[in-house]
Amino acid sequence: MKRILILISGRGSNLQAIVQRCADEAWPARVVAVLSNRPGADGLAFAEQHGITTAVLDHRQFADRETFDAELARLIDSFAPDLVVLAGFMRILTDGFVAHYAGRLLNIHPSLLPAFAGLHTHRRAIEAGCKVAGATVHFVTPTLDHGPIVAQATVPVLADDTPALLSARVLALEHQIYPMAVRWFVDGDLQVSDDGVVRHRRGVSQLFCG
Ligand code: GRF
Repeated sequence: MKRILILISGRGSNLQAIVQRCADEAWPARVVAVLSNRPGADGLAFAEQHGITTAVLDHRQFADRETFDAELARLIDSFAPDLVVLAGFMRILTDGFVAHYAGRLLNIHPSLLPAFAGLHTHRRAIEAGCKVAGATVHFVTPTLDHGPIVAQATVPVLADDTPALLSARVLALEHQIYPMAVRWFVDGDLQVSDDGVVRHRRGVSQLFCG
């Protein structure tokens, strides 16, 4: 039984998608804890309603990033997770933290990486005249929003799109590809080559097109 720990900062809709798919498909895994750096994050209530242990580690109580990340790692490790899932966790992580979880730390970013790392991805995609947008699940490496790509999904950018409309269309696909990618990890299906390319052990296509 693989142990999954999820880090959030807010709404937690990706957390919900993963918890629900894990239950619906009876994965050989369970979500052992949900941690938030923000008290009152909506995702905490969902986790509590589903009997999942939650904890808050408020970054504002720490003097610097290193001290916060060290305490966060101590808390995470107390749950002995096999996989740490960033699901809207709005913190830049220190290199030491990322190294500690190398190969077992996943993130989802609402753009087709390596395009549009960072914030305001949907506005930037519209302003750049992109015809498609999407989301990327990737292993986390020290460079923000980089790292080996596990899965991507695309949506069209429509002529009258706003960042809010595009965001909603992308989010619906995030809820499909993030649980899918986590399941692949749980099943031991992800292989990362030396060149940083992720392949599925059984040759399943890793591009899910919406
Ligand atoms: C998602 O758009 C995700 O791609 C980004 O942050 C957002 C989190 O949403 N990293 P939620 O908290 O999972 O609803």
